[in-house]
Amino acid sequence: MPLSPEEREQAERFGETYLRYQTPVMRTLERSVCGCDYGGTSWTTREEADRIAGLLDLRPGRRLLDLGSGSGWPALYWAAEFGCDVVLTDLPLDGLKIAAARAVSDQVSGTCWLAVADGAALPFGEARFAAISHSDVLCCLQDKLGALQSCRRVLGPDGHMVFTVISIVPGLSDTDYQRALEAGPPYVEAEDDYGALLEQTGWDIAEQIDVTANFAETIRRLIHMERQQESALSTLYDEETLAERRTSRDIKLRALEDGLLRREIFKVTG
Ligand SMILES: C[S@@+](CC[C@H](N)C(=O)[O-])C[C@H]1O[C@@H](n2cnc3c(N)ncnc32)[C@H](O)[C@@H]1O
Repeated sequence: MPLSPEEREQAERFGETYLRYQTPVMRTLERSVCGCDYGGTSWTTREEADRIAGLLDLRPGRRLLDLGSGSGWPALYWAAEFGCDVVLTDLPLDGLKIAAARAVSDQVSGTCWLAVADGAALPFGEARFAAISHSDVLCCLQDKLGALQSCRRVLGPDGHMVFTVISIVPGLSDTDYQRALEAGPPYVEAEDDYGALLEQTGWDIAEQIDVTANFAETIRRLIHMERQQESALSTLYDEETLAERRTSRDIKLRALEDGLLRREIFKVTG
């Protein structure tokens, strides 16, 4: 499925965000909220990245594909911590350029490759990777089945994929469903639940971990820290944008507290 005009626009917006998130204000904020400073746009905290690394079994000589890798979080962190080789792919070139510079300045010991690529049409041969990861990427793209199929094709035998995803809790009323849609990431709506999507694309679920409570806690921390950093943030955003950010955080947190959205970690095998 080719990318829609909306997805292309989203990629441009992500590109701008990656550039802005490299400013000292945003990196300080990220360190205080998530414990890292790669300029990430997922909700993966450092604590979660450590947990996911354990599920991925990363070590020198193993090649990890990170899909929708933005400016390198968390794949470059893993490369630095575990010495694995990493392949980073995403749509916005600006994010990947930042990641390339970070790989050099961190002097990661393994090899790091980068490619602009649609996650639903990965430009790699079959069975090239020992492990695959993606952080809140499936809820940012339309062709979820295409991305899951594409990942399965490039994962090697005995490999596994670990990813986080935000989804709408099933069984909501129409009103609550609309609230979840408004509060969630751009492509939070899925044609089926992730268990079914994984089954349709030939994946077996090895572990499914609900991290919604951590997600809500991260947003609370972010709201708190953004309030403290308001004057520094006003050097980056105009008043209207800052107000929109605050409202969107509040809407998200309320949706989580009301049980409308969830965030999970899946470990799957092909
Ligand atoms: C929530 S961000 C996560 C980025 C990064 N991994 C992080 O944790 O900061 C989702 C990423 O998915 C990427 N993305 C969206 N649609 C995509 C597609 N069709 N193929 C590959 N990446 C895509 C976006 O460009 C964005 O960088």
